[in-house]
Amino acid sequence: MTSGVGAPTRASISARTLRTDRWWLPPLLTNLGLFAFVAYATVRSFMGKWYWVEDYGYLTPFYSPCLSESCLPGSSHFGTPLPELPGWIPLGFVALPFLLGFRLTCYYYRKAYYRSVWQSPPACAVAEPHASYSGETRLPLIVQNAHRYFFYVALLVSVVNTYDAVVALTHGLGVGNLVLLTNVVLLWAYTLSCHSCRHIAGGRLKHFSKHPVRYRAWTLVSKLNVHHMRLAWTTLGTLVLTDLYVMLVASGAISDLRIF
Ligand code: FES
Repeated sequence: MTSGVGAPTRASISARTLRTDRWWLPPLLTNLGLFAFVAYATVRSFMGKWYWVEDYGYLTPFYSPCLSESCLPGSSHFGTPLPELPGWIPLGFVALPFLLGFRLTCYYYRKAYYRSVWQSPPACAVAEPHASYSGETRLPLIVQNAHRYFFYVALLVSVVNTYDAVVALTHGLGVGNLVLLTNVVLLWAYTLSCHSCRHIAGGRLKHFSKHPVRYRAWTLVSKLNVHHMRLAWTTLGTLVLTDLYVMLVASGAISDLRIF
């Protein structure tokens, strides 16, 4: 290595790190969390069943919007402009790549997987395995710069998920409705706390006093933004729990507790 920690101007230390604490634990936990979510979401997306509860109008967010003729009757809230799909294409494929793109390019997730998956570096005072550092100037990491555009699509998807949750309310009220609504509220909190959203609200302004509406929006987004990391993990969890709940009710494994 002739650059980075191996550069001639750096102290020559053969050990990868002199740290003796468990510095590897946070990256390991992050890896496990992300891997568990990706594995679950992938399996569920390709299952092609138990995503819609007709009696109560519950649609899992992993299959929304469902736009093909392969979708179960009633689950296509926005029509079926697409023909039947082969089994290897997930029914929620319209939104999935964008949602994945939104999460992958999220500033918080970057921090998490740059340290854990990419190991650049894995922890403070622990040398990274890469010979050189090119940041986000080359493929694949240059894609991170598209985060703002993924944000616009994520906004749309949040609207779609909200619509799904409201449509379900027309069937009455059950625990499933509370699950869908909680998921949607947290998804909005995560989406609106995005750093791109904060910049769109109040960025590139020279005088806040001349833009009171944008200043107010920026202030509100900033308050949410402080919790972005927590919201990132919470919404991973609520997405899985919401999907799991819909799957269990749709498959008949449990019945939905009805309130009225
Ligand atoms: Fe995390 Fe935009 S920075 S979603």
